[in-house]
Amino acid sequence: MDGGLILTWLIVLPMIISLHNSEWVSAKEGFISIDCGIAPGSDYIDGETEIYYTSDTRFIDTGINYDVSPEYIFEDTDQHLINVRSFPEGDRNCYTLQPAQGKNHKYLIRASFMYGNYDSKNQPPIFKLYLGVDEWATVRIEKAIEISMAEIIHIPITDDIDVCLVNTGLGTPFISVLELRQLNDSIYSPPEPGSLLLRGRFDFGTQQDLYAIRDKDDVYDRIWEPANSESISSPLVNSSFSTSDYKLPGIVMATAATPADENEPLGFSFLIAGHPSQKLYVYMHFAEVEDLKGQIREFTISVNDDESFGGPVAPRYLLSDTVYSKYSLNGSINRLSFSLKRTNRSTLPPIINAMEVYRLKEFSQSSTQQNDVDAIKRIKSGYAVSSNWQGDPCLPMKYQWDGLTCSQDTSPSIISLNLSSSNLSGNILTSFSSLRSLQNLDLSYNNLTGPVPEFFADLPSLKTLNLTGNNLTGSVPQAVIDKFKDGTLSLGENPNLCQSDSCQRKKKKENKFLVPVLISVLSVIILILIAALAIIRKLTKRRETRETVSERPKEGSLKSGNSEFTFSDVATITNYFSRTIGRGGFGQVYLGTLTDGTQVAVKMRSQSSIQSPKALQAEAKLLTRVHHKNLVRLIGYCKDGTHMALIYEYMSNGNLQNKLLGREAADVLNWKQRLQIAVDAAHGLEYLHNGCKPPIVHRDMKSSNILLTETLQAKVADFGMSRDLAIESGAFISTVPAGTPGYLDPEYQSTGILNKKSDVYSFGIVLLELITGQPAIKNPGNIHIVGWVSPMIKRGDMRSIVDPRLQGAFNANSAWKALELALACVALTGMQRPDMSHVLEDLKECLEMEVTSRRIQSVGSHSIGSGNSLDDLPLILGTQLGPRAR
Ligand SMILES: *[C@@H]1O[C@H](CO)[C@@H](O)[C@H](O)[C@H]1NC(C)=O
Ligand SMILES: *[C@@H]1O[C@H](CO)[C@@H](O)[C@H](O)[C@H]1NC(C)=O
Ligand SMILES: *[C@@H]1O[C@H](CO)[C@@H](O)[C@H](O)[C@H]1NC(C)=O
Ligand SMILES: *[C@@H]1O[C@H](CO)[C@@H](O)[C@H](O)[C@H]1NC(C)=O
Ligand SMILES: *[C@@H]1O[C@H](CO)[C@@H](O)[C@H](O)[C@H]1NC(C)=O
Ligand SMILES: *[C@@H]1O[C@H](CO)[C@@H](O)[C@H](O)[C@H]1NC(C)=O
Ligand SMILES: *[C@@H]1O[C@H](CO)[C@@H](O)[C@H](O)[C@H]1NC(C)=O
Ligand SMILES: *[C@@H]1O[C@H](CO)[C@@H](O)[C@H](O)[C@H]1NC(C)=O
Ligand SMILES: *[C@@H]1O[C@H](CO)[C@@H](O)[C@H](O)[C@H]1NC(C)=O
Repeated sequence: MDGGLILTWLIVLPMIISLHNSEWVSAKEGFISIDCGIAPGSDYIDGETEIYYTSDTRFIDTGINYDVSPEYIFEDTDQHLINVRSFPEGDRNCYTLQPAQGKNHKYLIRASFMYGNYDSKNQPPIFKLYLGVDEWATVRIEKAIEISMAEIIHIPITDDIDVCLVNTGLGTPFISVLELRQLNDSIYSPPEPGSLLLRGRFDFGTQQDLYAIRDKDDVYDRIWEPANSESISSPLVNSSFSTSDYKLPGIVMATAATPADENEPLGFSFLIAGHPSQKLYVYMHFAEVEDLKGQIREFTISVNDDESFGGPVAPRYLLSDTVYSKYSLNGSINRLSFSLKRTNRSTLPPIINAMEVYRLKEFSQSSTQQNDVDAIKRIKSGYAVSSNWQGDPCLPMKYQWDGLTCSQDTSPSIISLNLSSSNLSGNILTSFSSLRSLQNLDLSYNNLTGPVPEFFADLPSLKTLNLTGNNLTGSVPQAVIDKFKDGTLSLGENPNLCQSDSCQRKKKKENKFLVPVLISVLSVIILILIAALAIIRKLTKRRETRETVSERPKEGSLKSGNSEFTFSDVATITNYFSRTIGRGGFGQVYLGTLTDGTQVAVKMRSQSSIQSPKALQAEAKLLTRVHHKNLVRLIGYCKDGTHMALIYEYMSNGNLQNKLLGREAADVLNWKQRLQIAVDAAHGLEYLHNGCKPPIVHRDMKSSNILLTETLQAKVADFGMSRDLAIESGAFISTVPAGTPGYLDPEYQSTGILNKKSDVYSFGIVLLELITGQPAIKNPGNIHIVGWVSPMIKRGDMRSIVDPRLQGAFNANSAWKALELALACVALTGMQRPDMSHVLEDLKECLEMEVTSRRIQSVGSHSIGSGNSLDDLPLILGTQLGPRAR
C-alpha cells in the first residue's frame, strides 16, 4: 500500500486532530481558496479568517454539489466543510489551478474531505488523488465525521496545476476544500529532487490541547497540531519570531516543550506508518522564549541514536531558527525517536518549539508538450467540448482524453485528434495549426462552418484530414489540395463547399447578381471618367503656366481627384499652415480645406526626413491610384521645388491609439465598435495585400496608423510609404527604418525581410490592443503586450485579458475567437501566421457572433455574400468625387 495515506501520522504525545475554532489568515496574494460544492456566485470572505473562498465553477466543469447531512454539522463546524462536490461521472475529474506565479515555484497544496454522509448512503468512499499526471494520495474515508486532509509542498512543471480525483471503483469521489498557497522558493528544499508530503506538523508546549492552530499570523496558512508536554512559554507572542524565511507564526514559536526532569534529555518519538523505504525529512524550529540572564541553553539532536542529525543548537532569544535533515531519515525501523541532549556547558535543559515531518515523493516530471496542451485547451473551450477532457491530455495513458492519440514520449505530443460527431460548430479554429505533430485530424460530421483554412497545408506531419459532413463554405485552398497529394483529404457532404473545379454552380449564381451591378458600376465609372478628364485638362493647363517639372499622370485617368498641387495651393488650403493636427515620421501635419469644403490633412515633408524626394514622388503617384473605403485616401501631393507635401482625406476622429488610450469614459469603444474597427482595418490591409498589383506591404501597421471617421469607420493610413517599390531606387530601402517597436515582426529582425506576414504580425498586435485596451508596450517596465497577455492565456483567464473598461459587456466566444486570431497573427514565424483574407473572415465571424448574441432573433443579420464582394471592388462608387485644387 502506498504511503500516501492521509492523516495517518501518529505521535506518542497526546493529541486530537481537529480543525475547529481556527484562526485563519487573511486573504492575500498567492492564495487560491476553493470551497468546493457551494453554489456559483456565493463566494464569501470567511468572517473569522478573512480568507476569500470561491466556488469551484471556475476551476472544474464537472461534478454535482451536495450539502453534508445536518447531523454532522455542529455549531463550530467550519463553513468550508458543509458542502461537497461529488463526481459520480467519469473516471478522472480535475480541478485546474492557475496560480499567478505559474510553474517552477513552490506551492503548498491542500485538499480536505469531510464525507458527512452527503449522499445519504452511509458508505464512506475510497478514491485516489492525483497531482498532475502522478498519484498523490489515497483518500480513505472511514467515518462520516472524520476530516481528512492531503497536503503537499510541490513545484509544478506546468503553469496549470491539475488536482484530479480518480474513481477506483470503491465509491464516488468528492471533495470539500481545495487550497493553494505560494511559498518562498527558498524554504522546504530537501537535498534531493521531489515534493514533500506532510506527515505531521506540531506546535510544542501549547496550552491549547484540542484544536489545531491555524493562525492568521502564519503567512503560509500552515495548520499546526498541538503537542502537549511539559512546557515553557514566552510572555511575548510576537511576530518578531518570524524573521526567518520560514515565517513561523508567533503563537506557535512562543511556546516550547522542555523535559520534566531538567537533567534528562528531551525525548519523543513517532510511529511511522506506510512503506518501509519511504524517505522522511524533518524540519525543527527553535527559538529561545526565556530571558536567559547569562545562562546557557545548548543541546545536540539525535535521531534513532544517530548523533549526526544536528547541533549543537543554541536557540536565539525571540528569533526562530530551523534545523532540518541534510539527508533523508530511514523510515524502515517504523519508529523515529528523537533525543535532545544538553551539552556539558549548557546550564539549561533543551527545548523545542515546533516541528514538521514530511515524506519525500518523487514526481515523474513528465507532461504533455506545453504547446500542445495550450492549443488543445483552446480547442476545448472554443468548441465547449464536454467529454472527459480534463487534466493532462495524454498522461497518464489510462486517462488520456477521448479522441486523442499521443506519441509515446516522456513529454508526449498529440499525433491524432478525432472529433468526429462531437457537435462542434463555428469555424475551424486556428488553434489546430498549433498542434505541430498532428498526423490525423478527423472533424467529420459536425456543424463546422466557414472556410477550409490554409494552415492545414503548413502542418508538417498531417497525413489525413477528414472534414466530411460539415457545412464549410468557400473554396479549398490550392495549397491544402496539394498537401494531401500523398495523404487523404475527405471533404464530402459539405453542400456549400467549392471543391477545386466544381464551382460552376456558385459562379452562375453570383453572376445573376453581379451583372446588373456591373452595369451600374460601369455607368458610374464612365461619368467619373468624363469628370476626371475635364479636371485633368484644367489642371494641366494650370501646370503649364508654372515651371514645375511634374509629369502628367500616365494611365491615371481613372482617378478624378488625384492631383499634383503647387506649394502655393498647399499654403492656401492650409490657411498658411495655421492649424497643426499632428506630427508624423514624415513631418508636420496640418488641417486644410479644399474649395469644395472637404477637409484634408496635409503632411509636410520635414527637412530631416530621410525619404528621398524622388522616391516620395514615385510612391505618391502610385498611391494616389489605390482606392479602398478602408484606406485613407491620398488625395494629392505636392512637389514644388524643395517643398513636398502629401494631402490626405481628413479623419475627424483621430487615430485608434489615442482613442483606445483615451481617458474619457465617453470615449470607451464598445466591443462591437472594436470588432468593426478591426474588420475595417483588416479589409484595408487585405486589399493592399491581395487587391493591389503589385501587392503592397504596409510595413508600419500600428494603431496610430488606423484613423477613424466621424462615424468610427476605420481606415488604414500611411501605407506603402516605403514599400517594395523603393527597391527600384537602390540603396534607399536600407536607410528607411521599417516598422515601429512593439509592432515589428520578430522574424524581420533575423531575416531583414519584411513581407505580407510582417504586416499580419503587426496587425495581431493591433488586435491585442483592441482586446485588452493596453498599449503595445506597457509602461513602466517596457512589457510587450504579447508577453503580458501570454501567461493569462495559458491560464484561460479571459476576464483579466479583456479591457476592464468593457465591464464584461462582450460575447465571450467572440472575444475568445478574436484573441485566438490575434495569437495566430503574432506567431513567431510568418509561416504560422494566417494571411489577411483569413484574418478578415475570422473577424467578420467574431463581429457576427457579437451581433447575433445581442439579438433575440438573428433574422436578417447574415449579410449576403455577394453584397460583401462589392466592398472589395477597388473603386469609390459615387461616395465622393475627388476634391480639386482651386
Ligand atoms: C524568499 O527568501 C529569499 C531568501 O532569503 C528572500 O530574499 C526573498 O525576499 C523571499 N521572497 C519572498 C517573496 O518573501
Ligand atoms: C510586538 O513587539 C512590538 C515591538 O517590537 C510591540 O510594540 C508589540 O506590542 C508586541 N506585540 C505583542 C503581542 O507582544
Ligand atoms: C536504512 O535502513 C537500511 C536497512 O533497513 C540500512 O541498510 C541503512 O543503512 C539505513 N540508512 C540509514 C541512513 O539509516
Ligand atoms: C561531557 O562530559 C562527559 C562526562 O562528563 C565527557 O565524557 C564528554 O567528553 C564531555 N563532552 C564534551 C563535548 O566535552
Ligand atoms: C473517429 O471516430 C469515429 C467514431 O467515433 C470513427 O468512425 C472514425 O474512424 C475515427 N476516425 C479516425 C481517423 O480514426
Ligand atoms: C450532440 O447534441 C445532441 C443534441 O443537443 C445530443 O443529443 C448529442 O448527444 C450530442 N452529441 C455529442 C457527441 O455530444
Ligand atoms: C447541426 O445543427 C443543426 C441545427 O443548428 C442541428 O439540427 C443538427 O443536428 C446539427 N448537426 C450535428 C451533426 O450536430
Ligand atoms: C475520415 O477519414 C479518415 C481517412 O480517410 C478515415 O480513417 C476516418 O474513418 C473517417 N472518419 C469517419 C467518421 O468516417
Ligand atoms: C449551412 O449554412 C447555411 C448558411 O451558411 C445555412 O443556410 C444552412 O441551413 C446550413 N446547413 C445545415 C445543414 O446546417
